Amino acid sequence: MQNQPTKWIVITGCSSGIGRSLVWAMRRQGWGVIATARRLESLIDLPDGEDIVRVALDVLSDESVSLVVQQYQHLRIVGLINNAGYGQVGPLEYITTQELRNQMETNVMGLHRVTNYFLPLIRRNAHPGEGRIVHIASMLGRVSIPLGGAYSASKYAVVSLGEALRMELAPDIKVILVEPGAVRTELRNTATKVWGDLPRRVKGTRYEAILNRYLSFGKEVSQRWARDPDRSAEKIAKAINSIHPPRRVLIGPDAHIVLILKKLIPMSWYEALAQKIYGLKH
Ligand SMILES: NC(=O)c1ccc[n+]([C@@H]2O[C@H](COP(=O)([O-])OP(=O)(O)OC[C@H]3O[C@@H](n4cnc5c(N)ncnc54)[C@H](OP(=O)(O)O)[C@@H]3O)[C@@H](O)[C@H]2O)c1
Repeated sequence: MQNQPTKWIVITGCSSGIGRSLVWAMRRQGWGVIATARRLESLIDLPDGEDIVRVALDVLSDESVSLVVQQYQHLRIVGLINNAGYGQVGPLEYITTQELRNQMETNVMGLHRVTNYFLPLIRRNAHPGEGRIVHIASMLGRVSIPLGGAYSASKYAVVSLGEALRMELAPDIKVILVEPGAVRTELRNTATKVWGDLPRRVKGTRYEAILNRYLSFGKEVSQRWARDPDRSAEKIAKAINSIHPPRRVLIGPDAHIVLILKKLIPMSWYEALAQKIYGLKH
């Protein structure tokens, strides 16, 4: 790893998964990394170094984010990766409005909050064309699936925010949307924790079997299709480092296939296929 980097990038959600892999990938590309996570202890196994700082940051809190800005404004921060997020799974009929709000608060408002706190620093530090803001969206920010409505709604919003921000900040700061398919991370485990008593709520309804099917299909997908987070992070890092970064970075064969399929087949066919896969239609 290089010493005393000349440019720094902030990454949210580095406790596991894509965020954690990005810490290594960005350092390998010569960046200094401000690795953040809600709980500082979840970063304890990251090594100390001239090119890394570890700090607690909760995307839900103005106080938490502004503290990090104050603490590290002396570093030449020219990049930000909005990675923190989780998936709220469940049929919309059985998801509470509060659960939907929480999903938006983290995946959308959190991303917007962090962006707005760090943008003035990036503007101040970056040469024209050097600044990078990366939103980790999802393939599910372009297509919806049953039981994934809340998560998809948040990622569609991330895509829209990213597209608008790109036009607003060009050409000085480049905005990159990352749209992964399935990646092997903690996302699926977290989803079954945050859904709380959802299995009880759907018990005895048509969704009881569908929720189980969703879980086993998700497991199958993650075993068959899911990408390695390190390889995903390498691809993202390469895009960030290129002089003319792509607007969108798709990750994984599933992301490519689903998006091509959605362009080629009528919406009614897509819906029937998704309903069949998730057991809503026989
Ligand atoms: N894995 C996939 O298949 C996939 C596909 C498409 C898109 N994505 C997106 O990729 C991003 C990273 O997810 P992942 O797959 O790597 O899952 P992960 O391993 O569960 O990592 C998610 C990270 O987000 C953090 N986070 C959640 N809420 C937060 C908050 N309020 N403040 C700060 N950090 C918070 C988590 O921290 P804690 O440890 O504190 O909870 C964790 O570090 C997410 O935006 C996800 O939507 C993932």
